[in-house]
Amino acid sequence: MLNRREFFTITALGGAAIIFGYSALLRATLKKEVKAMSYATKDYSKLIGMEGFSETLLKNHFTLYQGYVNNTNKVLDILNQMLKDGKTGAPEYAELKRRLGWEFNGMRLHEYYFENLGGKGGINKEGKLAKKLAEDFGSYEAWEKDFKAVGTMRGIGWAVLYQDISNGKLINFWINEHDVSHPAGCNPILIMDVFEHAFMIDYGLKRADYIEAFSKNILWSAVETRLK
Ligand SMILES: [Fe+2]
Repeated sequence: MLNRREFFTITALGGAAIIFGYSALLRATLKKEVKAMSYATKDYSKLIGMEGFSETLLKNHFTLYQGYVNNTNKVLDILNQMLKDGKTGAPEYAELKRRLGWEFNGMRLHEYYFENLGGKGGINKEGKLAKKLAEDFGSYEAWEKDFKAVGTMRGIGWAVLYQDISNGKLINFWINEHDVSHPAGCNPILIMDVFEHAFMIDYGLKRADYIEAFSKNILWSAVETRLK
């Protein structure tokens, strides 16, 4: 279904195309509208130089993230075309729909991850997030212990501090893969990537050391803005 802006854009352009015979104008502008909806890769190069993260590791990670953005756009484009072509009953359509969660969350989770890095100095213990963590976990230290324990669990995935929007409660979750086990109705507050590509170049199998480095570089001011 068209939204209000798209409806007026198409109606106005359709009128112009009929009057002036500029069907090419209509096609070009609609193409531009669709293109404008594509996701753009964000630049996180300012993180290079961060203590405990080599340039090689970060650059590899940025490239991997870019792949998720590209694939999200690609999958959305193909699905959109299949819808227009009446191919929604095809097995390819179903498989791409399944794939979309993987690519989209791979893109978005990396953005949350990079955006909650680049800080120094630890959490402001008098801030609202530190107080909320202490309220929900007993103490900030108890939350940190739990979060790190989630991050060191065997397997690849993500450690995520979520806030349940229904009651405001903060909960640490283990997310096994990008596209599964995200808690419905919850808002991600702090994201830590524990896929091997996030640390093996610098730390080998010493994931706990990577988690220490991650913890020292959390940009708590950005994390706190995610709290409702
Ligand atoms: Fe990653």
